[in-house]
Amino acid sequence: MIKKTTAIFVFWLLGTGVYAQQIRMWVPSDTKDYYYLLQESGAKMQAPDLYDPQKASLNDAVVQFNGGCTAGLISDKGLLLTNHHCGYGAIQSHSTLEHNYVKDGFWAQRLEDELPNPGMYVTFVRAIYDVTGKALRGVTDDMDEASRQSQIDKNINKIKRDISIKPWQEILVKPAFYGNKYYAYVTETYKDVRLVGAPPSSIGKFGADTDNWMWPRHSGDFSLFRIYADRNNRPAEYSKDNVPYRPKKFFQVSTGGVAPRDLIIVYGFPGRTREYLPAFRVRQITERINPVRIGIREKALKVMEGFMRTNDTIKLKYTAQYARIANYWKKWKGENLGIRRSAALANKEYWEQLTEKELAKKDKADEYREVKTELENAFRDLEPVEIARNVFIEAGYLNNPWMQRAFDVYEFERNLQKGGAGAFSEGKEKLLSRLETSFQKGDRRVNKALFVAMTGVLKSEMPEGYLPAIWANNSVDDIAKKWDGSFLTDESKVKLLLEGDFENFEKALKNDSGYKMARALIDNFYGGINPEYHQRMEQIQTLMQKYVRLQMQAFPRMHFAPDANGTLRISFGRVQGYEPRDGVYYEPYSTLDGVIEKYIPGDYEFDLPQELLDIYQRKDFGKWEVNGTVPVNFLGTAHTTGGNSGSPVLNARGELVGLNFDRVWEGTMSDLYYDPAICRNIMVDMRYILFVVDKLGHARRLLNEMIIEKHQQ
Ligand code: ARG
Ligand code: GLU
Repeated sequence: MIKKTTAIFVFWLLGTGVYAQQIRMWVPSDTKDYYYLLQESGAKMQAPDLYDPQKASLNDAVVQFNGGCTAGLISDKGLLLTNHHCGYGAIQSHSTLEHNYVKDGFWAQRLEDELPNPGMYVTFVRAIYDVTGKALRGVTDDMDEASRQSQIDKNINKIKRDISIKPWQEILVKPAFYGNKYYAYVTETYKDVRLVGAPPSSIGKFGADTDNWMWPRHSGDFSLFRIYADRNNRPAEYSKDNVPYRPKKFFQVSTGGVAPRDLIIVYGFPGRTREYLPAFRVRQITERINPVRIGIREKALKVMEGFMRTNDTIKLKYTAQYARIANYWKKWKGENLGIRRSAALANKEYWEQLTEKELAKKDKADEYREVKTELENAFRDLEPVEIARNVFIEAGYLNNPWMQRAFDVYEFERNLQKGGAGAFSEGKEKLLSRLETSFQKGDRRVNKALFVAMTGVLKSEMPEGYLPAIWANNSVDDIAKKWDGSFLTDESKVKLLLEGDFENFEKALKNDSGYKMARALIDNFYGGINPEYHQRMEQIQTLMQKYVRLQMQAFPRMHFAPDANGTLRISFGRVQGYEPRDGVYYEPYSTLDGVIEKYIPGDYEFDLPQELLDIYQRKDFGKWEVNGTVPVNFLGTAHTTGGNSGSPVLNARGELVGLNFDRVWEGTMSDLYYDPAICRNIMVDMRYILFVVDKLGHARRLLNEMIIEKHQQ
């Protein structure tokens, strides 16, 4: 009965039947909401195989990797598989000119050769509880926002006291559905995580920015780490005496592959989606907010590219930064395109009409309309400050290395206000090293050009009333001149500044006209833009809570999955190609033949290691060969987002067949609106990973740790 109702609603809405219902990021413990759908799609496991707080289950084989990615355990000795782009910082930090692991790859031959990474951590989720009732106890609709929040905070503290945990565990309580639901997570964080293996970046990052967010794709985007624990298998700070962690559960690998239409399950930590926004807001994001961010990044990228084209030293220095900025620049462009292509606004408006109709039967249509109107007004009023905030963050920080230095000094100065001369001598070394790193990593000409371009942006794009007078009243030229002699743009002055005493430092700051300008801008952000933004957002959260609650009341039998919020989720779908444009169909697989087709000798994006070319010549594919080649990447319909990088991808039996790493460009609007016709996640085929570990890494010892089986589905 339940199933049927759900199916009909969704069918009505999208014309895609039960299918569209599967396209969600489910909370693993909400088994009843999604498990029947998984079974209908062919899952050959039981629900507790995927998640069980009482005994070892597959959730014990998934970790959040270093805060922003996902990784999966693939051996009984704590071996971890994640993306190359997730391990990139660690790989880079161990690289020198003699041992360039970024360029040449890295394969630890023995346990002793595995490389520690201070600060790196991974987090398990051992149990998840729906604590909605307890979290909202004593909370009523007529409470004002402050007393509501303080009641919830009290409740959450009690929830934390009531759940019994081991000394090395933690409890995290997080809202879902804008505070209509609450979940408690019992987590365990391991802090000794070592680098075990990585392919050369010509494999791990093959195609780089050109192929990023694109299909057809040919990337070996993986790296290997290992969790270490103390002698009792518990979390511990790094120590030579730590031993490989013995997991409760790890993934068995299948080399059977998956065929078109086969079920795939993505287990990971998606960061943020916003599926429940009204059409009005999605229009605002795509038409008003995204263009601002896209435009600013475009300017910054153009500046960098101009220098990178003609100067190899600069290119090397700015490649990572360029990639980071280009990543979301490209994503937002795809998002806007996808919103149009999928008629997201019309579909959302249709959903809103349906909702209103259903609510009318319950005498709640007036309430719904009222909340919707209030929301529209609140979003409209938010717009200027939201644009101001984006302009500040993009032009005044992310794309502006000089301003980034100013931020470091600003934070330091704030500490001094509390800690005085003591804080000065305590913190100055750290500040000095941060600033020196910034000078070493950058190039003055590029940074200045970025500063000039971003100053132009601040002056032309900042909405009325949000730019401090000192910036508004000076021309770009004058502003640049004021910065020319600043310690923020001159390394020799930084040393002088921090070598003297506290008083000297304060005086120098006062006299530095560049820093004075920076401070005015940052003060204006912390004192004006940001508080206003957060105050308005709080009000919007309250309205969204009502808005989402009404949607749930309209369709009480429908299973809603909460937006991604960085917690553990299960998404599933099928292996499937798509039609990117009229008359074009993309197959869901790519192979080593395509890698070789894209090869451009010496190119910074499409070069390949000679060893791979030789192996290809010899057709030496070993066990990993399929139809005379090696499968490389494949596409699925699982709903994923940033944070799902490194997520293990399972077949119907729960065996590891792939590693999630990206989405297709036409479908990146899935953060706002999922359309099964064009939204696809991109995965590395496990056989390509094993092939690279075997034939390029010659890392038998790692293959021997894994359990590798060949299963046909
Ligand atoms: N697009 C993928 C993700 O959002 C991969 C990013 C890797 N970085 C890059 N610039 N290629 O994170
Ligand atoms: N590359 C993304 C990440 O780093 C995953 C791709 C996506 O956004 O879907 O998490």
